[in-house]
Amino acid sequence: MKIINFGSLNVDYVYRLDHIVKPGETLASSEMQVNPGGKGSNQSVALKRAGADVWHAGLLGEDTAWMRERLEREGVDVRHVLISKEIHGGHAIIQVNATSGQNSIVLFGGANQSITASQVADVLKDAERGDWLVLQNEINVTPDVMAAGKAAGMKVCFNPAPFDEGVFNYPLDCVDLFILNEHEAAGLARKPVETAPEELIATLSAAYPKAMICVTLGEAGSLLWTASTGVIRQKAYPVKAVDTTAAGDTFTGYFLAELTRGASLEAALDMASRASAIAVTRPGALDSIPYLKELKA
Ligand code: RIB
Repeated sequence: MKIINFGSLNVDYVYRLDHIVKPGETLASSEMQVNPGGKGSNQSVALKRAGADVWHAGLLGEDTAWMRERLEREGVDVRHVLISKEIHGGHAIIQVNATSGQNSIVLFGGANQSITASQVADVLKDAERGDWLVLQNEINVTPDVMAAGKAAGMKVCFNPAPFDEGVFNYPLDCVDLFILNEHEAAGLARKPVETAPEELIATLSAAYPKAMICVTLGEAGSLLWTASTGVIRQKAYPVKAVDTTAAGDTFTGYFLAELTRGASLEAALDMASRASAIAVTRPGALDSIPYLKELKA
């Protein structure tokens, strides 16, 4: 059983600031870092560092082609990571609040938004019944891959990030596992973000009763609902956050890797929570993701 993650690859331009820029304000940053990132590639690396067999599929530009080598060095199978000669690669501009570690992200999709139907078909040729498919919402073909993956007998994990209304046009009944933060959960439940997480879970589980639904709540931990268990609660591990970028991606990768290894739901949640707590203590996206041995230390 393998995991195919069809998702974004971005280069992150990261600026540490004493606050996130306000409308009309110009702020100088004394530090800029250029890091590998993208929700897709972060999740592939988290899956790999957690010990899973993961293949990444996606599209880079020649300007971001180094990301392919980077994923390969991580041990991710990159046969379906293509490089466009015509289109710039995706990038993100990330402001990090130097005090709280909270971030604010501007995305430029670039090549992530130009994936062709023929690449989708090629990737799906390698899908085997029982494989997992991991999807986020940063590429142009997410709904097509979701439907095709399900038709090929794959199990579908969907992290609808960043959330937008277009998600309601996706074939969401194909999803076996939703992983959502509170904003994405509120968006999908069509409720205000202040809604109690238990109410969000109740709405989402009524709408998608066959799926597992996991809602991450930052310092408040996470909730997982499945039809057979009801709600399971997981605490967060308190740490001093330096940079919260990719904390959710780390959670997703570790949770799914543990689940597919046969861990109980409780154990998978606990590992995901531990891994994301470590990730927020480090700067960067993909670079902040811990290795399995660090969790066992
Ligand atoms: O989830 C964090 C990621 O979101 C960043 O690495 C950035 O590239 C955006 O995709």
